[in-house]
Formats: sequence, C-alpha cells, structure tokens
Amino acid sequence: MEVVPALGRLLRPVSALTVQISISDVADRLLMPEHKSFLSLPVVAEDGRPLGLVSRSTLQDIFMQRFGRDLWGRKPVGEVMNPAPLVVSLDTSLEEAARQITAQLQSPIRDDFILVDEAGLYQGLGTVLDLLKAMEHRVAQRNRVLRKALVDLKESQAQLVQSEKMASLGQMVAGVAHELNTPLGYVKNNLQLLQDLTGPLLDLAAAQARLGDCLADPGCAEVDLARALDEAARAREQAAPELLAEDLAQLFADTQYGLQQIGELAVGLKDFARLDRAMSEEVDLNDCIRSALLIARNSIKDKAEVQQRLGELPRIACAPSQINQVLLNLLTNAAQAMDGYGRIQVKSWSEAGWVFVSVQDNGRGMSPQVLERIFDPFFTTKPVGQGTGLGLSISYKIVQDHGGSIRVVSEPGRGTRFLLSLPCNQTANLKRSA
Ligand SMILES: Nc1ncnc2c1ncn2[C@@H]1O[C@H](COP(=O)(O)OP(=O)(O)OP(=O)(O)O)[C@@H](O)[C@H]1O
Ligand SMILES: [Mg+2]
Repeated sequence: MEVVPALGRLLRPVSALTVQISISDVADRLLMPEHKSFLSLPVVAEDGRPLGLVSRSTLQDIFMQRFGRDLWGRKPVGEVMNPAPLVVSLDTSLEEAARQITAQLQSPIRDDFILVDEAGLYQGLGTVLDLLKAMEHRVAQRNRVLRKALVDLKESQAQLVQSEKMASLGQMVAGVAHELNTPLGYVKNNLQLLQDLTGPLLDLAAAQARLGDCLADPGCAEVDLARALDEAARAREQAAPELLAEDLAQLFADTQYGLQQIGELAVGLKDFARLDRAMSEEVDLNDCIRSALLIARNSIKDKAEVQQRLGELPRIACAPSQINQVLLNLLTNAAQAMDGYGRIQVKSWSEAGWVFVSVQDNGRGMSPQVLERIFDPFFTTKPVGQGTGLGLSISYKIVQDHGGSIRVVSEPGRGTRFLLSLPCNQTANLKRSA
C-alpha cells in the first residue's frame, strides 16, 4: 500500500511579514534570492495566525504606476495584501489540498498557499508547482499499481478459466469412467461364464477324441472301449452341449454389445476432446450434440429423460471441442435445474443460413433477477463446489467468437430454453480461446 506523502513535504518555511511592514520593504524582500521561487509572501499576526498574502504581481502593478513607489512605498503592507488567502492545514490529505487549491486557482496564478498547523498557526508556504509535481507523482504511482493489478487480474482470470476447463474435464472423465464400468463389468462376467462353460466342452471333446481313437484302433480292448464310451457319455452329460448353444450365442452377443459400447464411448471421448489444431473444421453439429449427450449421460440419467429431435444440418466451420463445451454446459445446467425427475428436449434445425440448437428443460426456471446475470463471470446460484459460475460466460464468449449468439427464455417453476445460433458461413474470425 502506497504511503500518502504528507502535505508537510510541500512545506517551505518562509519567515512571515507583519502587517505594519512597508510595501517597499516587502518589494525588497521579494527580490532576495531565497524568495525567488515564491509568487507571494505571507503576512501573519503576532500570535501566528495568517492574515494574508502579498503577491509579487500586485507590487509590480503598483510600482509600474507613475510615482507608484513614492505614493505607496511607505504604506503598510496590510493595505495591499490579499486578506483572503488560501490556507490549508498540514494534516489535510494531498488530494483534498489539491481539490481545495485547484477550486480557487486563477489564471494567471498569482499566489502561493499558506500552510498552518492544527492550531491554525502559520508554518510556511506551499507552491502550486510543488503541489502539481506531488500529484503527478501520485498519479504515476497509482498507475503503476493499477497496471500491476490489471496484469494480476488477467492472470488469475486465465487461471480460473483454465481450472474451470479442468474441472469440467475432470467431471467428464469421471462420468465416462462410470459409463465404461457398466459394459466393462458385464463383458468381464460374460468372459468368466464362457470360461466356465467351455471347460466341460473341452473335456467332452477330449473324451470323444479318446473314444474315436479306441474305435479306430482294432487292438483296443473291450474293457477300454467300454470305459471310453462311459467317459464320453458322462462328459456329454456334464457339458450338455445341446442346452448350451443358445446360452453361448447370447453370451457372445452380449459381450459384443458391451465391447461396442466401450468403443462408442472411446470414440465419443476422442471426438469431444478433439484438440482444435485446425480451428475451423467442417462439422455436423448433430455429432457434437450426440457426443455431448454421451459424455453428460451419467450426470443426466438420474435427473431427466432426454428427448432428441435432431434435424438435418449443413456442416459448418467451427471449433468442435469448444462447441462441445458449450453444449455440455447447457445440458449439465438443464439437469442441475431439476427438482425431481424431469425432461430435457434437444432440438436442432437449420434455417436461412443459420444452424440452431435449442436445449429446453422443465426444471425450476429462473427469476428475472437471476436471468439478468447468468452470463456474468462467476455468477452462480449453486452451492460451493458445484458451480463456479463460469460455464455460461465462457459459452457466451465461445459463441461470440463463432459469430453466433445464445438467447434464453425462462419462467420460474416452468423451465428454461436456451437457443444457440451459429452462422453456416463462418465470416467471423474464429479466435483461439486461451
Ligand atoms: N437451465 C437452467 N435452469 C435454471 N437456471 C439456470 C439454467 N442454466 C443456468 N442457470 C443459472 O445460471 C447460473 C449460471 O450458470 P453457469 O453455467 O454460468 O454457471 P454454473 O452452472 O452455476 O457453474 P459452472 O457452469 O461453472 O459449473 C446458474 O448458477 C443457474 O442459477
Ligand atoms: Mg453451468
């Protein structure tokens, strides 16, 4: 914190005049080198109270008159002084002093100002030039502080935006890991079952092979043949292949389905997190919607059913991972707005050179006061830890960078509808967001 330079630092001790001193004497004093930088000299009463200021310019005016010095020279200075000089107390702040002095400043500047102590007694003079220099110094110092504050602010804002991104990425990864677990679980189970079922089948195959060998061997003894027959019959009973066929087909189909789901999730995740090296890719926004829905599935599924009405869309140039982030935030917000189990409708369509996506929920809606602030950075109504309040402000910026817009209508108790519009022909410069 900067220390306010005391007004005292502007104080220039100058010995004061008494009111009886003659005008000529004052003129001589003003010529003395130590008074050179003053525009005026102070007149002070015996008890130290300031009475006025005699300005150099007043004396010059007098002496330039014909016989001025003869007519006025011996008169007491009290007659020509300014009896209402500017008096500033030493404990006044620099700003306040500057305010008082500039309020009364005249052009050209004819006077200095008198500085007094708390008791109102004369302590010295201050000059306007010193005051201006001090103020300039203050302003320069403030500017430095402000510039630094601005740099700090930008840095922490960038960090927050980054951590919001990381937080949503973390959420997403957790969701996807959860999604992966279900198919992974039953693929694993199925494999165990297949292993359990194939053991007796292998035993059966081995017993039948032994029986076949025996039958083909003319030297095979009756008793060995009988054993081989017996073993093959038991193995067949154990494995019950005729009952297995259906189970095996089902297990293979389920396992394949599980693996397919895992594959889809992997592709979705890859699409979602696609780094936009080529910033403007030609993208079907419906793919972004599907990808965002896939990623958000885990956080939505207990909150709402999702209805999709996706129309045919032209491919548009955009930064898909950024648009995915916008859609994910709209979907998450919609799910988080549900008090019970609700409905989220996602629609897309194209019209007159624009692509539209609407995300509508029948959640708790927003009051006009909340609605007014939702795009402000850090505005959130969610508990600490659940929302940073950056989702919509980042989304707004992303959509703006794409030359599009986000509009919203909401009714408390009824729900909310966000409408995202993006131009088909990207003319706005796609900016790389930090
Ligand atoms: N669909 C919606 N229904 C009701 N309120 C909403 C909806 N979408 C946004 N809001 C309101 O707007 C606020 C700001 O939303 P935003 O997405 O910017 O931040 P957040 O969701 O609170 O936090 P974050 O997105 O950073 O996790 C929310 O806290 C909520 O009050
Ligand atoms: Mg949000």
